[in-house]
Amino acid sequence: MKTYKIAVLAGDGIGPEVMQQALKVLEVVSNKFGFAIQSEAALVGGAAIDEHGEALPASTLDLCKRSDAILFGSVGGPKWTNLPPAQQPERASLLPLRKTFDLFCNLRPGKIYPAFAELSPLHPRTSSQGMDILCVRELTGGIYFGEKGRSQDSAFDTQTYSVKEIERITRVAFEAATKRNNKVTSIDKANVLATSVLWREVVSRIAKDYPGVELEHMYIDNAAMQLIRAPKHFDVLLCDNLFGDILSDEIAAIAGSLGLLPSASLNGSNFGLYEPAGGSAPDIAGQGIANPVAQILSAALLLRFSCGEEAAARAIEAAVEQTLERGIVTRDINPQSTYSTDDIGNAIVNAISYKENAGA
Ligand code: NAD
Ligand code: IPM
Ligand code: MN
Repeated sequence: MKTYKIAVLAGDGIGPEVMQQALKVLEVVSNKFGFAIQSEAALVGGAAIDEHGEALPASTLDLCKRSDAILFGSVGGPKWTNLPPAQQPERASLLPLRKTFDLFCNLRPGKIYPAFAELSPLHPRTSSQGMDILCVRELTGGIYFGEKGRSQDSAFDTQTYSVKEIERITRVAFEAATKRNNKVTSIDKANVLATSVLWREVVSRIAKDYPGVELEHMYIDNAAMQLIRAPKHFDVLLCDNLFGDILSDEIAAIAGSLGLLPSASLNGSNFGLYEPAGGSAPDIAGQGIANPVAQILSAALLLRFSCGEEAAARAIEAAVEQTLERGIVTRDINPQSTYSTDDIGNAIVNAISYKENAGA
């Protein structure tokens, strides 16, 4: 039987709560589709600082290196914000993981499910027209990884992008567009930033290799506005690291909640890191009310991109959609809801099992 080894790094806050649901779903779907998931958990982020004194212990990194993929929860929280910046969970675990494995490509697919278009914060007329966007975010360059400095009275961050870095993420966006609606909107601030001028030049050149794909350039400020005004306008959104971080949270909110948006961080091999786009949500951690959908959909992306188990990935996505459409949602989506994190996980597990019984 095919066996996939997965490093499970649940992290902090709601991470362990939602991870538990994703593992249940992986268990049922692997049984159904005839493969095995061999998962091994390790500490990361604040939980690892508390236990081992560092956010990414060598043993955790070693587990990742021995695995086919990483299923990541989320890291960080108020408990660790007083540490020196370089030791904090986000900077000292998640960013090094992305860099170590050269995970330059971050895919964040967001859509408005028809059944709860009215729950989107957008005007019903706008949201009912739908949204189905793939945000392709550059993940290992830009201002996140440039030179930084701090003196008593000032601080700086620098943004650098090389032609190579822009080329490789641009190709991912165009390839994705050919399998979707053949449109790429490239986001920049070319009216101000030197890196954006280069970004626009390189994207325009690569676009010539994809004559069937329409390319549009859009400034980040306008894009933030157009996403709310007319989300259906967009297909693939090509962003640098910082702009992609910001716009993907906006896409999640338009879809109904940050708790819905999964992500895949890839490097061109089968290996990948899969995590919700949102964070450790300290405001709701420990209450059993976090939305596990983003974590569960991240597990589906893991099966698709790192294991090649497309049918299993689709089964999870279909079960999620069916569960949401039945109104089985947490209160981030419907404030009247009394469903718990566990209820949502169980409903998705049942939806997968039921299909099995029906022979689907
Ligand atoms: P956040 O994404 O954790 O939360 C923002 C808001 O969205 C909160 O109101 C939260 O309750 C809600 N939310 C997020 N995920 C949810 C879910 N699954 N279900 C229901 N509601 C959900 O962002 P923040 O509050 O700015 O950051 C909190 C901590 O998380 C910080 O330390 C931050 O650095 C970290 N963070 C980590 C990651 C990651 O590990 N990948 C991503 C983003 C933020
Ligand atoms: C995300 C998060 C991270 C980012 C933080 C926690 C470093 O916000 O994955 O979107 O900014 O990339
Ligand atoms: Mn973010």
